[in-house]
Amino acid sequence: MRFLKPSIFLLCLLPLAHLAWGLYSGALQPNPVEALLHGTGDWALRLLLVTLAITPLRRLTGWRRPVLWRRMLGLFSFFYAVLHFTIWLVLDRELVWGLVLEDLSKRPYIMVGFAALLILLVLAITSNAFSMRRLGANWKRLHRLAYLAALLGVLHYWWLVKADVREPLIYLGVFAVLMGLRLPVKRWVG
Ligand code: HEM
Repeated sequence: MRFLKPSIFLLCLLPLAHLAWGLYSGALQPNPVEALLHGTGDWALRLLLVTLAITPLRRLTGWRRPVLWRRMLGLFSFFYAVLHFTIWLVLDRELVWGLVLEDLSKRPYIMVGFAALLILLVLAITSNAFSMRRLGANWKRLHRLAYLAALLGVLHYWWLVKADVREPLIYLGVFAVLMGLRLPVKRWVG
């Protein structure tokens, strides 16, 4: 069972390898920047939802081991979100600060994405044993913000699609199920 964590680590790197291969082989043509943005955004959100699914999974099945992978999965979500942001900043907006500020102030979906990224940044910085000790009970409260980050991530996606909301709707559904599983268990059991 000790090989599971390194295997999951490698699995989390697969989307990156897939995107890098697509870039190299030309499979991301005709718009590689858009393809990279979509790929990294999707995986930031997916991994965040997987991270949030670990506690309900433990409560429902009693399987404790995935709790050991939660921090790593959350950090991988942050990793893809940072890549996503960097691709937007450097390749899409080409570091033209006027364009960056205009997008941030005029496009609600960019604002919401930025808020989600800031939350993920705070959670990543405080995801170590030292912060857990320092923050005590507040650490758990702070890290519940992961739910808000996921909701903002879903909203970000919803807002940017013009017509076909099927995919963001699936993410919203997963998020709603995770919230639904969490709330009653807390009220009745905990
Ligand atoms: C400052 C932060 C962010 C910026 C500037 C940003 C920007 C963008 C842009 C420009 C797109 C593509 C829009 C289009 O094709 O029309 C996009 C898509 C997306 N972003 Fe973000 N984003 C940010 C943060 C995030 C975060 C934190 C998440 C996840 C937690 C996320 C998840 C997504 C998803 C799921 C998509 C859609 C991917 C697809 O179409 O398959 N974004 N984002």
